Amino acid sequence: MNFRTAIFLLTALVLPGLATAGDDTSGKALYATCAACHGASGEGNEALNAPGIAGQSESYLARQLWDFKDGRRGKEPGDTTGAQMLPMAATLPDGEAITTVSAYIAAMPTVQPAATVSGDAANGQKLYTGKCGACHGGQGWGNEALFTPRLTVIGDWYLLRQVAKFQESLRGVHEDSKYGRQMAMMAKTVTEDELKDIAAFLNAQGPQQ
Ligand code: HEC
Ligand code: HEC
Repeated sequence: MNFRTAIFLLTALVLPGLATAGDDTSGKALYATCAACHGASGEGNEALNAPGIAGQSESYLARQLWDFKDGRRGKEPGDTTGAQMLPMAATLPDGEAITTVSAYIAAMPTVQPAATVSGDAANGQKLYTGKCGACHGGQGWGNEALFTPRLTVIGDWYLLRQVAKFQESLRGVHEDSKYGRQMAMMAKTVTEDELKDIAAFLNAQGPQQ
């Protein structure tokens, strides 16, 4: 698909979603806008740079949407994929819409993302347990109490990209992004090769409990 076709399809898919969201504020109606990029089942779409979000932690989803809406994420110069979410978060008019759509997405059944990177899962387990598991849970399923997302639903390509963004100060920079800043510090403890091993370990865990 060429770029113009892709934009045409996106517009065709997104605009009806926006219209529906205006009339109906149920989670399903609000999600119609999101499905154009994140997929009908919230499975994500690598070609559109959109992560898997189905079954992600509700509080994490809501916090990211507020961060995009209030300019704590997606505003660093050079964060082109983060910037795509700014107008999308703006379609959610208020806290009620953010809560409703976050609850809807969190309740969608998780989807196992296809593996796109290969690595040594056994070495990944050691690295993950030592460097990540204390916050993201032993199998990458996230920990609401520590405000961490599930790492097993987002897609391995997205995991690598987000850690690179934290390393390159494209995310987790804003002074009020407390949890983003926490992760930015952790991102500096891993290399790309180590992350591929960690991704191989996470791909073997299944998306959730
Ligand atoms: C035009 C495509 C597009 C649409 C439509 C879209 N998104 Fe996104 N979304 C993205 C991209 C691209 C990213 C990745 C941002 C990044 O790279 O930092 C993203 C990231 C996110 C994240 C952060 C996920 C994470 O794991 O950090 C959430 C939450 C999210 N989107 C929710 C939504 C919701 C809710 C809607 C509908 C109101 C929506 N998106 C509509 C493209 C889109
Ligand atoms: C001290 C706790 C802590 C540790 C250790 C930690 N993280 Fe995180 N991580 C977080 C928090 C908190 C967030 C949410 C950031 C936000 O809200 O913006 C996060 C977010 C992420 C994200 C973004 C996910 C998404 O959906 O966009 C990725 C990827 C990630 N962490 C990977 C890792 C990896 C890999 C390791 C080990 C090398 C690790 N983290 C270690 C706390 C931690």
